[in-house]
Amino acid sequence: MRTLGRSGIEVSEIGFGAWAIGGPFSAGGQPVGWGAVDDDESVAAIHRALDLGVTFFDTADVYGTGHSEQVLRRALDGRRDQVVIATKFGNTFDAATRELTGQDVSPAYIRSACRASLERLGTDWIDLYQLHYGAMPYERVDEVLATLEELADEGLIRSYAWSTDDPDRAAAFAKGPRCTAVQHQINVLEDTPEMLAVCATHDLASVDRGPLAMGLLSGKYTADSRLPEDDVRAEPEGRYFRGGRPAPEYLDRLAAVREVLTAGGRTLAQGALGWLLARDSRTVPIPGIRTVAQAEENAAALTLGPLTGAQLTEIRTLLGR
Ligand SMILES: NC(=O)c1ccc[n+]([C@@H]2O[C@H](COP(=O)([O-])OP(=O)(O)OC[C@H]3O[C@@H](n4cnc5c(N)ncnc54)[C@H](OP(=O)(O)O)[C@@H]3O)[C@@H](O)[C@H]2O)c1
Repeated sequence: MRTLGRSGIEVSEIGFGAWAIGGPFSAGGQPVGWGAVDDDESVAAIHRALDLGVTFFDTADVYGTGHSEQVLRRALDGRRDQVVIATKFGNTFDAATRELTGQDVSPAYIRSACRASLERLGTDWIDLYQLHYGAMPYERVDEVLATLEELADEGLIRSYAWSTDDPDRAAAFAKGPRCTAVQHQINVLEDTPEMLAVCATHDLASVDRGPLAMGLLSGKYTADSRLPEDDVRAEPEGRYFRGGRPAPEYLDRLAAVREVLTAGGRTLAQGALGWLLARDSRTVPIPGIRTVAQAEENAAALTLGPLTGAQLTEIRTLLGR
């Protein structure tokens, strides 16, 4: 288990990312989901993860424009007290067309988004409520923090975080008394020492998204792979995938560290999660999971534990960091 920053909330060292299980949705006509999903398989994957000790579930109101939260509700029915739920707000959407429509962080909107998430999740409280507008202007911070503190006073949320890759924004949010984490991009192919330093300074958890570089770190994608057009990885300007193909520079980095990550019988995905657990005591990776097999492979990283200090050093050298 790890503690989420200053909140005292305990979570499993590895969480469950619920973006993909929301199914298709789009922004400006571009797909931002992970293609079609089978809800029964998603529920079975959540149940398997729970059975294997995973207690931390990360979703967002926009994932499948509400669908991810509803699938979580179905899967967690009767087990709410055993889990920690993180969801997000800040993007507006039309559930009828499954389209994102913009951003809104006004107090009235945050309150209505919170109520809608509670309803879809079938719960009376959200453990970690995250701002999903990574580049929100600084001048909105105080007002957003004030609203989040009110929601915490009312018992609707227990703590909050910003999902952002900007260390300065993470630090600005940390002045909120019940801010307890930052959700950000980090994986073995892409370290973020500045963000981890902010977490240490402000006693925040580092909730790690993209821990498997959108699936690249499973090792199943090669230079010949081509993902379908309804998959977010088909986006022409993506980071780890571009136009449905793995980005060559990340495939090269993966090749450089493959042997270290898979030493001792770990799969690549387990090695990548073990790197994050070793990188800092505040990290909580939330790999996206869509099948029972993925839930089993990723949850096994809980028992395999962190890489060694020597392996971390070797990876740093191999990647020229
Ligand atoms: N702005 C934000 O706040 C933000 C942004 C991104 C993500 N997130 C959160 O972070 C979570 C994780 O990030 P991510 O989904 O972008 O990427 P990720 O965790 O790096 O990759 C997830 C994908 O990898 C594949 N996969 C997972 N485990 C596997 C295994 N053991 N073997 C083979 N393939 C495996 C699955 O896709 P395939 O099977 O289709 O390959 C899965 O959807 C999300 O679910 C979401 O909760 C938040």
